[in-house]
Amino acid sequence: DGKSYKWFMHKELHEVPRKIKEQIMMPQEDLDSFVKTILEAERIFITAAGTAFYAALAGKFLISNFGGPYVEAILCSEFIDTLPNMPENSVVIAVSQSGETADTIEAIRYAREKHGAKICSIVNVVGSSLTRYSDEVIITTAGLEIAVASQKAYCTQVSALTLIALRIAELKETYSVEEIKKFRDALLKTVDIAENILIEEGKIREIGEKISNETNIYFLARGISTSAALEGALKLKEIAYIHTEAYAAGESKHGPIALIEEGFPCIFIAPPDATYSRLIGNIMEMKSRGAKIISVVADFDENVTEISDYTIRIPIENNKYAIATSIVPFVLTLQLMAYFVSDFKGLDPDKPKNLAKSVTVK
Ligand code: F6R
Repeated sequence: DGKSYKWFMHKELHEVPRKIKEQIMMPQEDLDSFVKTILEAERIFITAAGTAFYAALAGKFLISNFGGPYVEAILCSEFIDTLPNMPENSVVIAVSQSGETADTIEAIRYAREKHGAKICSIVNVVGSSLTRYSDEVIITTAGLEIAVASQKAYCTQVSALTLIALRIAELKETYSVEEIKKFRDALLKTVDIAENILIEEGKIREIGEKISNETNIYFLARGISTSAALEGALKLKEIAYIHTEAYAAGESKHGPIALIEEGFPCIFIAPPDATYSRLIGNIMEMKSRGAKIISVVADFDENVTEISDYTIRIPIENNKYAIATSIVPFVLTLQLMAYFVSDFKGLDPDKPKNLAKSVTVK
C-alpha cells in the first residue's frame, strides 16, 4: 500500500482486507468439490495446531451456526489419542498455514492410512506436504507470511471456512436463496469492515497501551467467540509475553473466578449474537468482584459498553447477516491489539522467542 511499516506483523495485518477479499472471491469449483467430499462423509473432524486450530474451532461453529452437520474439532497433537478407534467413512478437515506442521501431518496420515478417511485441507503454502496427502485442497490467499505469529493466514482460513459453511447451508437448504445471498454479501462486507478497523487502528492502540503493563489477563467469550478469545490470548502471550488465559465465559464460576481481585483485567469478546445476554451475566460476575472489564463489542452496542471500563468497537451493521459473519473483524482487532502491546513493550513482534514459523517436530 506504499506505506512503510516498522514490523512485518503490522504490514501483514494491513494486508488482511485485500487477502480476505481474494479468498471470498475464490473459484466456486474448488469450493464445490471440497464441500461435496465433506458432505459425503458420515463423521466430520477438523484438526490443526495453534492459531490454525482456533480458525478450525471458528469453522466448527460456523458450520453448525449455518445449520450444517456436527463437526468435531480435535487438536492434531491429540488426534490419535482421542480417536484410537476412528469411525469409518470419516472426513478430516485440516487447517494449516505452512502445510508442514509435524503434528498435523501425523494426524491426517493416521486418519488416511489407518482408517481410510478422506482429507480436505485448507493450506497456505502450495506444494507443501499437507497438500500432497490430501484428497481436496483449498489454497488460502494469504500469500507469504513472514511474521512468525500467524495473522493474515488465520483471517483467510476463517474466510474460507465461512464460505464452506455457507455452501453447505445452500446445499442443505437451511436458509432461503435470498438469505444465503444476504449472508454472502455480509461476508464480502467484512473486507470494508477490516479496512475501517485498520484506518481507525489508533483506538485499538490506545487500549493496547492501557493493558501493556499487565501481567495476567483473562479472555472470555461464548460460542464462536470463544475461538476468538483463544486466539486473542495466544497472540498476546506469544508476542507481548503477557500471561493470558482464555476460556468459555460460562466456566468462570467453576474455578478461574478465584483469581479475580480489584483491577484484574478481563477482556470480553461480546458480539450481539445468541450468547449476548448470558455473557452479560458473566461480565457482571467478574465486575462485582472488582475485575477491570475491557470489552470488544459491536459499534451499536449499549449494554456491555455501560458495564465496561474500556471498549473497542467493531464497525459492523446491526443485522443478523453482519453479526453471523463478524468473527474475522473481531479477531483482526485482537491481533492488532497484541501487535501494539508488543510494540509498546519494545519487543520484536516478528520473531517471538522460542518460536518457529513452521513446527516440524512432534
Ligand atoms: C501462532 C502460530 C502457531 C501456528 C501453528 C500451526 O501465532 O502461528 O500457533 O498457527 O504452529 O502452524 P501451521 O498453520 O503452519 O500448521
